[in-house]
Amino acid sequence: MSGAARRESPLRVGVLASGNGSNLQAILDASASGGIDARVVVVISDKPEAFALARARRAGVPAVVIEKKNFASREKFDVRLVEILREHEVELVCLAGFMRILTPVVINAFPQRMLNIHPSLLPAFPGLDVQRKALEHGVRFSGCTVHVVDEGCDTGPIVIQAVVPLAPDDTPASLAARILDQEHRMYPAAIQLFAEGRIEIEGRRVSVRDAGIIETALVNPPPDDRSGKN
Ligand code: GRF
Repeated sequence: MSGAARRESPLRVGVLASGNGSNLQAILDASASGGIDARVVVVISDKPEAFALARARRAGVPAVVIEKKNFASREKFDVRLVEILREHEVELVCLAGFMRILTPVVINAFPQRMLNIHPSLLPAFPGLDVQRKALEHGVRFSGCTVHVVDEGCDTGPIVIQAVVPLAPDDTPASLAARILDQEHRMYPAAIQLFAEGRIEIEGRRVSVRDAGIIETALVNPPPDDRSGKN
């Protein structure tokens, strides 16, 4: 944790997850170890079989299932979602592999208080199956992005990114695994920035108070010793 003033009480985080929940686990672990000044107060899934729910229960966090088949429309589903988040007094909503596009019902209920994590360097490769797309495109670097959720798909203001170089023998699975390692660092880091009140959003741009800067360029493939010499 940085030297910023501690909150009086931990930031109350609600996590929405449809699948494995490894990002949820990273957030739970960071919270349990005191690495972030935030606490997961509810986990909500649209899939009863999501392993994320078991992770929540194991950590003693309320795990709630809300299935689309029980709602006549997306909006009605989202109204219930907002009710559950409010019942748990959630201050920050984190989408972690939540496979539904949210309507303005949720987005307007948590303006600039909703994050998503995506396994590419946005705005490159929004959507699904993005590790395969990065490989097929031949990019030298991919990575992950934590961004504020807006009404688009993976379009909101960028909070933090980590760069992952591609290896010549990468498969979508091997690349996804290396990106996921970074996701597990980046999501808690982004939550901590929120908990410390260091984030300011203006239009598309997010400024982070007291953030350092990186001056070194990354090059992939790395130049050998002889390049640039006569
Ligand atoms: C992650 O790759 C995340 O970036 C994407 O969905 C995946 C969720 O993985 N949005 P997990 O359920 O957190 O393991």
